[in-house]
Amino acid sequence: MLIKNRPGWEMPESQATPESVFLNRRSFMAGGAGLIAGSTLPQVAAAQGADPTLDLYPAKKNAAYTLDRPVTEEDLAANYNNFYEFGTSKDVAAASKKLVSRPWTVTIDGMVEKPLEIGFDDLVRKLPLEERLYRFRCVEAWSMAVPWTGIPLKAFVAFAKPLSGAKYIRFETFLNPRMASGQSQRWYPWPYTEGLTIAEATNELPLLVTGIYGKPIPAQHGAPLRLITPWKYGFKSVKSITKISFVAERPKTFWEGLQASEYGFWANVNPEVPHPRWSQASEQVLGTRDRKPTLLFNGYGEQVAGLYKGLESERLYM
Ligand code: MTE
Repeated sequence: MLIKNRPGWEMPESQATPESVFLNRRSFMAGGAGLIAGSTLPQVAAAQGADPTLDLYPAKKNAAYTLDRPVTEEDLAANYNNFYEFGTSKDVAAASKKLVSRPWTVTIDGMVEKPLEIGFDDLVRKLPLEERLYRFRCVEAWSMAVPWTGIPLKAFVAFAKPLSGAKYIRFETFLNPRMASGQSQRWYPWPYTEGLTIAEATNELPLLVTGIYGKPIPAQHGAPLRLITPWKYGFKSVKSITKISFVAERPKTFWEGLQASEYGFWANVNPEVPHPRWSQASEQVLGTRDRKPTLLFNGYGEQVAGLYKGLESERLYM
């Protein structure tokens, strides 16, 4: 339920990144700096086989984004995933270790001033990073609450400089069936693709996520770069992005390609619009016995409801 005078997504500050994560970062910095004098932190990290972006974590918390429920335990979130490239069960954490996330090139193309191919480690240092607590609601009617670290998508769009004809952004995951055996299953329309309108993308909420729980994002959550759109069902949050294209036409998405009658382009959370095969009225909160009522736009209506004025004839909630 919404608490008076507090937005629906608020939670106590005490639920933020654990101190141990912060302290680990400090000890890494101290140890690394002593190991190779004169090296930059990313160089030290690479020499140690660690993630070259480790020095960026934990990122500054954006205190405006708080919740109404405890943060889901890290282990739980890390072992209950959807990543069809590595299998269709929730137990894909081990299989997804096959994901080779370095080197990782991101292509920015389509209707932009200057199409670009850029290494992920360069990209992440060109743009602002922050940590936000968000609720996350899967279309399968389970939910969690997670501290994501990421680049506000709005800042990325400004960096990409789209041309005026660009109306949508299309996101694409890698395609490599030898690395990701799920992609050998030809009945899926690989690669995984998703899309947003430019208006949605430049709203304050969407994040291009690079980290979780105060650390670089692990494989099973979509390393090294994924989308998070907290007011939409989780399938919109495409993982392991290699290509971001600015386009004039609405892109066809992975799930639309598979089953358009059940999974559409908009996929905004709405408890009153059931999935054709189950209710969306409530959600199972991971790690608890709680079944909570689902909120319109997952509780983020204040930020996003205005985006859909005039679009009422669209299937906005599927
Ligand atoms: N992205 C890719 N590339 N492949 C996927 O299978 N699954 C989606 C989304 N992004 C998926 C994906 C679905 S259905 C959900 S609910 C979320 O990722 C799950 O994110 P999580 O595993 O980090 O909780």
